[in-house]
Amino acid sequence: MAIISIPDKNKKIKEESEIREFLQNVGVWYDRWEANATLNDNASQEDVIAAYSKALEPFMNNNGYKVADVININSTTENYEAIRNKFLQEHTHTEDEVRVFVDGEGLFWFNLEGHAVFNVLCQKGDLISVPAGSRHWFDAGESDPFVKAIRIFIDTSGWVPHYTGSDIEKFYLE
Ligand SMILES: [Fe+2]
Repeated sequence: MAIISIPDKNKKIKEESEIREFLQNVGVWYDRWEANATLNDNASQEDVIAAYSKALEPFMNNNGYKVADVININSTTENYEAIRNKFLQEHTHTEDEVRVFVDGEGLFWFNLEGHAVFNVLCQKGDLISVPAGSRHWFDAGESDPFVKAIRIFIDTSGWVPHYTGSDIEKFYLE
């Protein structure tokens, strides 16, 4: 279950209906998906996608998404620091960044026009779609990262980060 934090207001939102309402009001698509089979730690990309197919297939068909894959980041991931830094700087994408968290957790930070900066701690079962063109960054933590997530694309080229160069993320890094 996700948790929203708004550091400048010293506010946290933990209740599901309030999380849904908050994200809807700022134009961020959020949902919760259940796996229809138990996944073990060694589940392959195909196993993960198959386990979520009941929700995944209609979602992709209805929204024009073409490709899904699974990312796996953990303490054994090589070059984790470089991977972390790539998405830790504020950026945008030309298409929506859609993620379904299957295990572990990570923080999506949003810097949306007219709203205080907030982050969403995404955990198992959370689907989040960062709207195309919106300023955001992502952090799986400085050490001991663990994220397993389905990525959903129209075209994987849309995933290229376009950095804003604002350096705003440095202000919020703990
Ligand atoms: Fe991104």
